[in-house]
Amino acid sequence: RSSSSGSTQKTLAMIKPDGMSGNYTNRIKNVILESGFRIVKETIVQLDEDTAASFYAEHSAKSFFSSLIKYITSGPVLVMVLEKENAVADWRDLIGPTDAHKAKVTHPHSIRAMCGLDSEKNCIHGSDSTQSAQREISFFFKEVSAGAAVTEHDEL
Ligand code: TYD
Ligand code: MG
Repeated sequence: RSSSSGSTQKTLAMIKPDGMSGNYTNRIKNVILESGFRIVKETIVQLDEDTAASFYAEHSAKSFFSSLIKYITSGPVLVMVLEKENAVADWRDLIGPTDAHKAKVTHPHSIRAMCGLDSEKNCIHGSDSTQSAQREISFFFKEVSAGAAVTEHDEL
């Protein structure tokens, strides 16, 4: 459907425990703002195992799942709702590939290249689709619609 009010999108970002403990938070926020995103919501949370397992439910059968849950619950995370045109795809581009080793080679300017360590401790999360963004934003911020601003009436 066409929209008369542009294609503003929201997506979910999460600075993972290694990004928090490494004091990369301010550097990451600067990259976010310099890249044209607005931070419309933010909260620091300590995930417990059940909440983390629910957030990452799509990966529950994977071999790395228990390690992932242990890691993501190992310290506080900073969860943000980011907004700009084409936010979902642009945020995925900016964070870079899942494996931070690979990111350092193929996407040296990405956030995962800047602060990630490997394919698990990759310092930052981004929603992988508009559907994921909608689910993940309402997972943390019940009151925020992942759709566009209230003056728009397109659905995701
Ligand atoms: P995935 O959704 O595949 O990656 P992305 O975060 O880029 O969307 O995986 C979710 C998280 O699971 C990933 O950020 C880190 C962790 N993970 C591992 O620990 N080992 C792995 O081999 C993979 C693929 C992911
Ligand atoms: Mg993913």
